[in-house]
Amino acid sequence: MNARQSFESTTSTTTTTAADRAEQTLGRIAVELPGATAIFRKLKLDFCCHGNVSLRQAAQDKNLDLAELQAQLAKLERSDALAEEISPSVLIDHILTRYHEVHRAQLPELIRMALRVETVHKNTPQVPTGLADLLQIMQQELLDHMMKEEQILFPMLKSGGNPFVTQPISMMRAEHIHHGGMLDRLNALTNDATPPAGACNTWRALYSGLAQLNEDLIKHIHLENNVLFPAFEASAHARPAGGCGGGGHGCGCQ
Ligand SMILES: [Fe+2]
Ligand SMILES: [Fe+2]
Repeated sequence: MNARQSFESTTSTTTTTAADRAEQTLGRIAVELPGATAIFRKLKLDFCCHGNVSLRQAAQDKNLDLAELQAQLAKLERSDALAEEISPSVLIDHILTRYHEVHRAQLPELIRMALRVETVHKNTPQVPTGLADLLQIMQQELLDHMMKEEQILFPMLKSGGNPFVTQPISMMRAEHIHHGGMLDRLNALTNDATPPAGACNTWRALYSGLAQLNEDLIKHIHLENNVLFPAFEASAHARPAGGCGGGGHGCGCQ
């Protein structure tokens, strides 16, 4: 399987239309659509204890503009589709909008919900004690990692790469392994993001969001490790011996 085939095998294009959402209950949307809970909270729409009301009905009850609400939710719907042939520059832009921006939006809401679940359900045996702390550490590590990519590595790659690009790529690969370890810890703490029987909508929305974070981060790392980086690593290694490649790749100048 080549990188393109491998990438395609991890993508899907399932989206729910705004019209579908209008007839869904707040509780179901909260669970299915990570980020929706933040919108509901802002508008004081109770998705937890009164989550069995349709979005249409809830909008009517609160005198809210349904179309505007649908438009806000539609921004959270995600498509992983990419064109058949894309340049590294387009791929980087896709990674930035589909993954970096989404992680930045996802994590604060997950932390908020984890704090709430840990507080409200502290006497429930399955409560994921320490989840909010773990998510806060993950958030900081991911923010640092993405900033390095955005400010150093990606501009380098967008300008065509250079002989030294293998060094920051190796650093990013090592950090990706660490992110994978953090996901393992998240899954261990939450029974693979499986809510216990009878969990409230917030708990279910939290675990649905964690499952989404897990899937997003895996696809994000896969795109960088297996699609974006290899082309630049191959060309850096293939530089003629006459030019100093640096980075310990046999240039003989050290
Ligand atoms: Fe990234
Ligand atoms: Fe990365």
